Formats: sequence, C-alpha cells, structure tokens
Amino acid sequence: MSTNATVRTVLVPAAGLGTRMLPATKAIPKELLTLVDRPIIQYGVEEAVQAGIRRVVLVTNPGNTLTASHFSPAPELEAELLARGKPELLAAVRALTGLAAVTTVHQPEPLGLGHAVLCGRDAVGDAPFAVLLPDDIIDAEPPALRQMLDVFAGCDGPVLLVERVPRDAVDRYGIIAAEPVGDGVFRVTDLVEKPAVADAPSDLAIIGRYVLTPDIFDTLESTERGAGGEIQLTDGLRQLLRIRPIHACALNGTRLDAGNRGGFLKATVHFAAKQPALAADLRDALDSLTQPATGG
Ligand code: UTP
Repeated sequence: MSTNATVRTVLVPAAGLGTRMLPATKAIPKELLTLVDRPIIQYGVEEAVQAGIRRVVLVTNPGNTLTASHFSPAPELEAELLARGKPELLAAVRALTGLAAVTTVHQPEPLGLGHAVLCGRDAVGDAPFAVLLPDDIIDAEPPALRQMLDVFAGCDGPVLLVERVPRDAVDRYGIIAAEPVGDGVFRVTDLVEKPAVADAPSDLAIIGRYVLTPDIFDTLESTERGAGGEIQLTDGLRQLLRIRPIHACALNGTRLDAGNRGGFLKATVHFAAKQPALAADLRDALDSLTQPATGG
C-alpha cells in the first residue's frame, strides 16, 4: 500500500457523552446542536467535502439515528417546501442529501476516541483516511483537511493538526514533542495525552483533525486504557510512531471548540458575524451590553 494514496474517507467520531454541554445534550446529540443556522456536524462535513473527501463514516452510539438523518432525503419536507413556493429552503435541504456519501457505524459504549476510531475499521478498509472531530470547527482557507492532505502527500505516515495553546491548558490536549522540518511542518518525536502542565513536552496541541494510515487499527487493537480510563487515539499513535514516521502541521486558520459552553458561544459569535444578514443584529446585541443602563 502506498501511504500517500488518495484519501477518500473521513471518519467522524460522534459517540461521546457530551457531558460538558449537558443538559443540552441530554436528548440531542452534541453534533446536532445548532450553531447559528446549521448543526455542528454540517460544518465538519462541509469542510471535508471542500477538501475533496466525499465519503463520511459517522461513529455514533447505537441509539442515535438522528445524526445521519440530517444528510438523508426528507421527501415530505421537500414536497411541502415545493408546494409552499420556498425554492431557496428546498435547495438548502436537498443540498444536504447530495453533499456526501454518509454511512454510520456504532460504538457500543463510549470507551474513548481511540476505540471510536477502531469501530470504523471495516467501514474505512485498507486505505489512508481522515478523522474529523465535529466539535472542533475550523474556519480556514484552504480548509484545514486540505492543508493536511497537502502535507500528507509528501509524508510516509500520518499527519496531525496542531496549534499552540496556553501553557496552562496543555493538560486538556494530546501534546506532541516535535522537530520543525519545514514551514509549519514538524516531525513528531513523541506524543502524550493530557500531560500535567509541568511534564508537557511542548505547547503544541493536537486539535481535532488527523490523516491516518490504516496500520493505526492494529495498534489501537492493543492500546490499553489511558488518560480518563479511555482508549486514547494519542496512545495508539505513540505505538505507531515506533514503526512509522508521524508528522504534524500547524493550523493556518481559526479553530473554535464548540464542545464547551464558552467555546460554543465564541463559535456562535464568530459565524454570526460572517453572515451579513445577522451581523447588524449581533452588533446591536453586543452594543446593548456595553451601553450604560437607563431608566427603570
Ligand atoms: P470529547 O473529548 O469532546 O468527549 O470527544 P465527549 O464525550 O464528546 O464530551 P464531554 O467531554 O463528555 O463533554 C471528542 C469527539 O470524540 C467523540 C465525541 O463524540 C466527540 O465528537 N467520542 C469521544 C466518541 O465518538 N467516542 C468516545 O468514546 C469518546
């Protein structure tokens, strides 16, 4: 197998509990929470498609049929929009069906990101693939996955996306030790999941995009539970590093972490400000917060 074969599949793990967003995520999967005008997951799938990847494998918990249905035909809704003369809404709904080829695999229990990736093994097959964590929403041009695929084309192994984070935040991420080998490109020498601040080998955090080679599945089969009692993808990659080089590229763009309350709010403001029809409302709302209170 040539490691730089075309990447046609993106695996989207979406089977976590989403505890940081409870109670919003009690009945609604986190990736379906609405960010301005579309669910979180749509941003990720659109990014993959813009990067040239049209095959999407969702990893969900077995009870979740809602997430995939966002990308399935909705004949009754479409007929109703047609009858009511709403061509723009009809086009927006239909576009979701043609956007990508979406299939679903199940993760029976949320045993960790590494385990979620392993659940996609049969669906991915023996070819390189991307992993996209839907709550890391990335606004970048070219799209983040495209930036990574361009690096992957010249590498003999996986490519991770990294971003420098404040030193006191390293314990929330997988952190790499690395040597720069080019403009924004690093050769990874070690990886550690959620290190203590004092032990972190750098401030380069792995953010929610990976381009992986299929040999990661064998290493994940033997990866033991790590940080938080979960089977960690970072630990699987650490094993893989013994047999294959791993590179990282620095994100050129803006990452918004919609998986926690503050980040979700910032992401909402970021994407609302980009829509001319909403930008004025957003400015009014923010201005009203800074005006001195009057009367009352
Ligand atoms: P997170 O670290 O955000 O975990 O997972 P989480 O469970 O979704 O949320 P919190 O921490 O409880 O608030 C990153 C991505 O990996 C998926 C999640 O659905 C999310 O898209 N994931 C995580 C799985 O698919 N399975 C798992 O076992 C863990």
